[in-house]
Amino acid sequence: MRITLVSLFPEMARAVTDFGVTRRAVENGLLTLDTVNPRDFTEDRHRTVDDRPFGGGPGMVMKVAPLEKALAAARQGNPGARVVYLSPQGRPLTQARAAQLAATPGLILLAGRYEGVDERLIETEVDELVSIGDYVLSGGELPALVLIDAVTRLLPGVLGHQDSAAQDSFSGELEDLLDCPHYTRPETYRDRSVPEVLLSGDHERIRRWRLKQALGRTWRCRPDLLEARKARGLSQEESEL
Ligand code: ADE
Repeated sequence: MRITLVSLFPEMARAVTDFGVTRRAVENGLLTLDTVNPRDFTEDRHRTVDDRPFGGGPGMVMKVAPLEKALAAARQGNPGARVVYLSPQGRPLTQARAAQLAATPGLILLAGRYEGVDERLIETEVDELVSIGDYVLSGGELPALVLIDAVTRLLPGVLGHQDSAAQDSFSGELEDLLDCPHYTRPETYRDRSVPEVLLSGDHERIRRWRLKQALGRTWRCRPDLLEARKARGLSQEESEL
């Protein structure tokens, strides 16, 4: 998959390209991450990308012209890509949406700064708005990186262990449920022992225990998620747990 990040701070892409699973995806050619800086498409001496808002008020607004040119360059390098603007006004990013975006051939992620971008650019150039939560950040770069991470780990071949994406919180067997607890050595830490079932070698018991833990955690911490699951119908096993 090819992703183009349009940002005034392209160096921030290193958080994805230089570390962990996403770095490996880049090294293995599964993810290509390009950046385009709107400042490179300015024509004045000060390389101006923002201006005061019509109607007054605090803050600055990103100008249409450099962004339009930056997006044209992004489209040229990533033909057919969906253009996503990161914004608190967007549709919330969920695991299901990440999976849909992972199935597209390419993405252009537009990260705004200041008070945002001129609305006319959104109307004419953007396919969809995505939010990563109900809080306001100083720019769209971190949300874009969150989206890139969530999407990349779903690309075929990115995760070493075939099942680990499917068993994470929010997907696969434990769809709409939070993850179960995990343990590794030592068996006892500060008088706390690993649950006996995990040492039993009984895979069916372990699977049931994990499902029960996931259901319990979700019920306690995120009961709203259980509604979606209930709407789809609980399995016989799950109703008994
Ligand atoms: N830009 C600023 N805050 C944001 C958020 N919560 N989600 C997406 N983009 C943003």
